[in-house]
Parts: sequence; C-alpha cells; structure tokens
Amino acid sequence: VDDRPTGPQRKTADSAFVRACRREPVPHTPVWFMRQAGRSLPEYRKVREGVAMLDSCMRPDLVTEITLQPVRRHGVDAAIYFSDIVVPLKAIGVDLDIKPGVGPVVDRPIRSRADLERLRPLEPDDVAYVTEAIGMLTDELGATPLIGFAGAPFTLASYLVEGGPSRNHEHTKALMYGDPQLWADLLDRLADITAAFLEVQIRAGASAVQLFDSWVGALAPRDYRELVMPASEKVFRAVEHHGVPRIHFGVGTGELLGLLGEAGADVVGVDWRVPLDEAARRVGPGRALQGNLDPAVLFAPRDAVERQADRVLEAAAPLEGHVFNLGHGVLPDTDPDALTRLVEYVHERTAR
Ligand code: CP3
Repeated sequence: VDDRPTGPQRKTADSAFVRACRREPVPHTPVWFMRQAGRSLPEYRKVREGVAMLDSCMRPDLVTEITLQPVRRHGVDAAIYFSDIVVPLKAIGVDLDIKPGVGPVVDRPIRSRADLERLRPLEPDDVAYVTEAIGMLTDELGATPLIGFAGAPFTLASYLVEGGPSRNHEHTKALMYGDPQLWADLLDRLADITAAFLEVQIRAGASAVQLFDSWVGALAPRDYRELVMPASEKVFRAVEHHGVPRIHFGVGTGELLGLLGEAGADVVGVDWRVPLDEAARRVGPGRALQGNLDPAVLFAPRDAVERQADRVLEAAAPLEGHVFNLGHGVLPDTDPDALTRLVEYVHERTAR
C-alpha cells in the first residue's frame, strides 16, 4: 500500500531522514540531535534573553528562529519543533512553569480523582501558535523535514504527580500501584491530550513525530506492558492514518526496547547503554532505529568522538533503517563546533 502523505509533507518525502525512518535506501545516514535547539548555541541564548521558556514557546517568531538555528549552523537532516513536553498541559490551564536549571514544576500536583478533573481535552485553538509557527517553518525548511513531538503519558504523569522532576518517581508509583483505576484514567486523558497535540503538528505540516517517554526506563517490563503501554499505544494509533513516521524514545529502556516498538512506533530511539545491533535484536524486524552516541562523548577530543561515532555506525551497518542521533539530549555545555563536525563526519563516512 502506498501510504505516502499528500499534504505539506510531500516536499520532504525523499529526504534522507524520512527515507531512513521508512527503511528505504539513503544517500547518507541522516543525523539530528535531540535538544539541538537550546543552550549549547550562543544564538539561542541571545534570542531567549529576557523571555521565559514557556513564553518563548508561544511566540511563532521565536519558535521559528530557534527551530531553524541548528539547521543553519550544523546542517542536520531534520529540524525539531522548538517547544517543551509540558506546553499542551500549560495550554489546557495546568498551573505549571519551567524553572531554569530545574525543569517543569507544577503548583498543585495531581494526586486524586478531583485533581484529574483539571485535565480537560486539548482543542486545536488552544495551541493556535503551534499551527502558525509550523506553517512558517515548513515554508522556510523546504525539503528539510520538521519533527513534531510530545511527551508520552507516563513521563507527563510523572511531572504532574510529583510536581516536578523526580529521581525515584515515588508519588507516581504510589498512585500507579495504589489506585490502578485512577492511574489508568489519568494516562488515558494524557493520551488524548498528547494525540491531539501531535495531530495539530502533523496537520500543520510536521513530517514525523517523536513521542518522548524519557523517564519510562524507571519501570519493569511487566508494569510497562500493563500500566503504561495501553496509553502510549492509543497515541500511536490515533496518528497512524497520517502515514508520517512515528519515533518512540526513552532513556534507560534496554529491557523495554521490544515493547517500545510494539507500542506502535516505526522508529525506536535507543540510549547509549545498548549497542544498536543488540537493540535491533530486541526490537525485532520491521522498525528503524535512532541513536545512540553518548552525549557526554562530545566533551572528548575530536578523534575520540570520531572513534565512538564509528562504533555506532558499525553496529548500525547491518540495519535496514538508521537515524544517527545522541542517546539523549545535547548537554548544555557542549561545544557547538563538535556537533557540526560530527554531522559532517557521519555524512562523509556513510556517503553511498
Ligand atoms: O531542540 C529540541 O530538542 C527541541 C526542544 C525541546 C525542549 N524540551 C526545549 C527545552 C524538547 C524536544 C524538549 C523535550 C523535553 N522537555 C523532554 C524530553 C526530552 C528529554 O530530554 O528527555 C523533557 C523530559 C522535558 C522537560 C524539561 N524541560 C527539562 C528536563 C528541562 C531542562 C531544565 C533545565 O533548565 O536544565 C526543560 C526546559 C527546556 N526545554 C529547555 C529547553 C531548551 C531549557 C530552558 C531554557 O533554555 O531556558
């Protein structure tokens, strides 16, 4: 079946990134970096001066400029929409903020059934600035794909239930094990919000979407399958008919890689702890992989970075589809020139 999209995504259908996601032959291995837009770039720090993180996410002019910055500077094969996983929650009125150096914090955490009523469905008009920014971006980007994204239900729930970043997710797990019905209802609502947010981005022109379940590696496979996977599956199913590649990423997910694929992803993101050839065995056939250079490697000298990049490329060589990326986001103190050199290096080494 030819399920190629007919919308604004047509311009990017033959890009190396989209082709690799679809496990089609590519002229070179495509590269992009999670958190490629952000504090590692002086031009980012300049435009963000005096503007709060969440305010910047609601300004199409700033979103467009910041999204384009790493594409111009590094020549990456894809842009990622500048936003944050908590933006759709803010848009439905959740009392949250992003504290510099800390991350998302929620004034009144969600712990009871009454709290759950504060999570209303997301309407496209709640995030009109996203539609506007993506329209501007796809015009500017031309044949370079734009990746839309959202937080997965578990990772969003963790911020909402804990009230902020958490090492052990103790309140989240207390709710998950202690009141499975409330937990299921919370994740189901978050799945609908997440699906609606991805839908807005795809309709506006995003060529792929990534679901960030950053903290799901905190779970054992059985709990993931029973208590979390149904909600993530619902998100992937909801956007399937658009035919754009769906990427599923989490950190510390070695034991979950098979399930992350089964949840409905076309591409599974892998952190640096599992080599890609082993990850491919765990994920099974029919899905591409994305990853997986340790972001801390970029602090090593150039030849060491290249040796580690070679190891990623060697492990990926037998795969049908590989998108080169880091195993997690760019660290804020990373030298941007090291990222630019890495893009060039991967392109050169994989040119066919
Ligand atoms: O370039 C890109 O990747 C797009 C932008 C992007 C941001 N956040 C911008 C941002 C993306 C994809 C995210 C996703 C995100 N946000 C995730 C999933 C990815 C991951 O890292 O696992 C998570 C868990 C969050 C929650 C969050 N928001 C954290 C942990 C932080 C960092 C806190 C800090 O200051 O160290 C944020 C804030 C945030 N989101 C920043 C940026 C550029 C930094 C804020 C700033 O520049 O002032």
